Amino acid sequence: MSNFLFIQLLLISLAGLGVCNGEKYSRDDFPPNFVFGSGTSAYQVEGATNEDGRTPSIWDTFAHAGRAGGATGDIACDHYNKYKEDVKLMADMGLEAYRFSISWSRLIPNGRGPVNPKGLQFYNNLINELLSYGIQPHVSLFNFDLPQALEDEYGGWVSQKIVRDFTVYADVCFREFGDRVQYWSTVNEPNVYLIGGYDAGDTPPQRCSPPFGKINCTRGNSSIEPYMAAHHILLAHASTVKLYRKNYQEKQHGFIGLCIYTFFYIPFTDSKEDALATQRANDFLIGWFLDPLIFGDYPRIMKENAGSRIPSFTKAESKLVKGAFDFIGVIHYMAIHVSDKSSNLALKHRDYNADSATTLVDIDLLTSLEVSITPWTLEGVLEYLKQVYGNPPIFIYENGQRMLHNSSVEDTPRVKYMEAYIEGVLNAMRNGSNTRGYFTWSFLDAFELFDAFESSFGLYYVDIEDPDLKRYPKLSAHWYSDFLKGKTVGSDPEGLGEFDRNVLFTSK
Ligand SMILES: *[C@@H]1O[C@H](CO)[C@@H](O)[C@H](O)[C@H]1NC(C)=O
Ligand SMILES: *[C@@H]1O[C@H](CO)[C@@H](O)[C@H](O)[C@H]1NC(C)=O
Ligand SMILES: *[C@@H]1O[C@H](CO)[C@@H](O)[C@H](O)[C@H]1NC(C)=O
Ligand SMILES: *[C@@H]1O[C@H](CO)[C@@H](O)[C@H](O)[C@H]1NC(C)=O
Repeated sequence: MSNFLFIQLLLISLAGLGVCNGEKYSRDDFPPNFVFGSGTSAYQVEGATNEDGRTPSIWDTFAHAGRAGGATGDIACDHYNKYKEDVKLMADMGLEAYRFSISWSRLIPNGRGPVNPKGLQFYNNLINELLSYGIQPHVSLFNFDLPQALEDEYGGWVSQKIVRDFTVYADVCFREFGDRVQYWSTVNEPNVYLIGGYDAGDTPPQRCSPPFGKINCTRGNSSIEPYMAAHHILLAHASTVKLYRKNYQEKQHGFIGLCIYTFFYIPFTDSKEDALATQRANDFLIGWFLDPLIFGDYPRIMKENAGSRIPSFTKAESKLVKGAFDFIGVIHYMAIHVSDKSSNLALKHRDYNADSATTLVDIDLLTSLEVSITPWTLEGVLEYLKQVYGNPPIFIYENGQRMLHNSSVEDTPRVKYMEAYIEGVLNAMRNGSNTRGYFTWSFLDAFELFDAFESSFGLYYVDIEDPDLKRYPKLSAHWYSDFLKGKTVGSDPEGLGEFDRNVLFTSK
C-alpha cells in the first residue's frame, strides 16, 4: 500500500536540482529474466469482505471506525469476483508479474485453526489464472490486515504468540500454493506499519499512548510497542524463512524476502548535525530491519537512543534472523529532508519518533498531491543498499505516482513518473545494483489507507459509482503496455537531475 501521511509534514521547497537527464531506452535494455509487474493488496482491491467465510481484519476495523474518510473496503474493486477479468487485462497489457497479498482472515478465518476451503479456492483460482497467461505471481503474506481475532485475543504483533501463528499461516500458504508461487514476501513495509500503528496510532491497529499518539488511542504504548512488535515481526519472518528453507525451498525452487518502505533521506542543510541526523533517520527506518537481517542486530544508534525499550536479540535469535532472506523488497516513492532534533533525547519520556532525534521535512505533499519526479532518489536508495548492505538481490515492489481518482484517464504525470523511475532503475543496475524486478503501484485504483478512493495510483481507473465497477485503461496502462511490448521510450521528463549523493553515505 502506498503510505504518505504518517509523519508530521512541514513545507519547504526543493530547488536547483541541476542537469537534465532522459535517455531513450527499451525493455531490451534490461536482462530477459528481469521482471516488470504491478501490484495490489488484498484489502485494497478484493472487497467481498463478508463473503465465503472471511472474517474481519484490523484494517476492516480501522475503516469501519471511519478512519478512511468514512469509506470501507467492503466492496473495493470487487476483485474477489472479478479476478478473471482483471487477469485478462494484465495479460492484454503484457504484464510479466503480478504482486498481490493473501488475506489471512480469508484463508484462516480466526487466524489460527481450520483453513477456509472457499478462501483456498479463491487464491488457487487466481494463481492458476495468472499462470495460464504466463504471469508470475509474487505473493505477500501480510499487508496491514491481521485477523481481528488475533488482535483481540493477545494484541497481535505485540505478543510473542504471533510468531507461531504467523509461521503456521505461512506453512499453509507454502503447502497449498508453493508448487506454483516462487516469490514470497512475509510482512509488507513493517517499518511504516509499526510507526503508524503503534507510535502515532493513526493506522491499523491504532495503538499508541499519550502524549505521542495522533489519535486518542484506547490501548498501546508508543514508547515500547513499536520496538516490541518489530522484534516479533523479525522473529516471525525469520521463523517463516527457516521453515521455507527446511521444508519447501528445495522442491519448490522459490525465494523468500521481506519488503521495506524507503524514503531517500536528504540532509536539510549542509551542517554536520543534519548529515548525522540523516544517517540516524536511515538507521531508524531501514536499518531497523536490514541491520538484523544482514548483520544480526539492531543498529548501534537505535540501541543507544532507545535503551532498554528496544528488545535485545538472544544469541539464538540473532543467528535465526541474520541471513534470513533471499531478496529484499523495496518500496519507494519519494525523498524527504531530515533535520537534527537532538533536543528530543533530553525528554524524560520518548517514543520511537523522539528516539530518532530527527525532524522529517516533506518536500512535496503540502504543495501538491503528486510526487516530484526525482528518479535519482530511487537510484540513491539502491546505491545505499549496495554500499551499506552488500548489494542484496532486490525487487522494487512499489513505485508510482499519486493523482486524484477523479482526474482524467490521461494521466500524463504518471507516465512521466514511470518513464523517469524505470530509467533510474536501469542507471542503478548499470552501476552494479542487484535489482531483479520493478513493480508499479498499483494495477487498479485501490482503496488507499487514509483516503480510500479519493487519490489513486492505478494504471486502470475503476469507476466506483458504476455498480459494475468497470475498469478503464489510463494513458499509463497504454504506455506501460507499449514499453513491455518492446517500444523505445524516454524523452526529456522535466525536473530530472543529478544530485551529489556522496554526502549521504556517512560510514556506519
Ligand atoms: C482526543 O480527545 C480530546 C479530548 O476529548 C479531543 O479534544 C480531541 O479532539 C480528540 N482527538 C482526536 C484526534 O480524536
Ligand atoms: C510504557 O511502558 C513503559 C516501560 O514499561 C512504562 O514506563 C510506561 O509507563 C508505559 N506507558 C504507558 C502509557 O503505559
Ligand atoms: C475531484 O475531487 C476533488 C477532491 O475530492 C474535488 O475537489 C474536485 O472538485 C473533483 N473534481 C471533479 C472534476 O469532480
Ligand atoms: C556507482 O558505484 C560506485 C561504486 O560502488 C560508487 O562509488 C558510485 O558513487 C556509484 N555512482 C552513483 C551515481 O551512484
